[in-house]
Amino acid sequence: MNIPLVDLYQQIQTIKASILNSVEQLLDSGAFIMGQDVLKLEENFCRLVSVEYAISCNSGTDALVLILEALGIGVGDEVITTPFTFFATAESISKVGAIPGKEKGSGLRYLKY
Ligand SMILES: Cc1ncc(COP(=O)(O)O)c(C=O)c1O
Repeated sequence: MNIPLVDLYQQIQTIKASILNSVEQLLDSGAFIMGQDVLKLEENFCRLVSVEYAISCNSGTDALVLILEALGIGVGDEVITTPFTFFATAESISKVGAIPGKEKGSGLRYLKY
């Protein structure tokens, strides 16, 4: 039996009609950058996680880079992370000039990417 690690096709079927409807509305509105939908998303997210501000990003990678930059992490810093993640985690750390590392005493000092 072949069980795929990720089955996006099955996952998307349950929300496909809703997504297509939203994309059609977006195309008709012509508001491709920011706009009311983005504002609504950020407001809903604020309520969901009980925070005052939220900024949506185009990708998870950019979200991670923004977080690292907001924390002032850059060249010469080491960021401890898990090897059990998508490669974008270490990629984001490298992008700001820092070094992705793993917990001391757990084998390899630095992750190799
Ligand atoms: C844990 C984790 N971090 C970051 C990313 C990167 O997200 P994106 O592909 O939207 O840049 C992913 C993508 O799957 C992820 O699984």
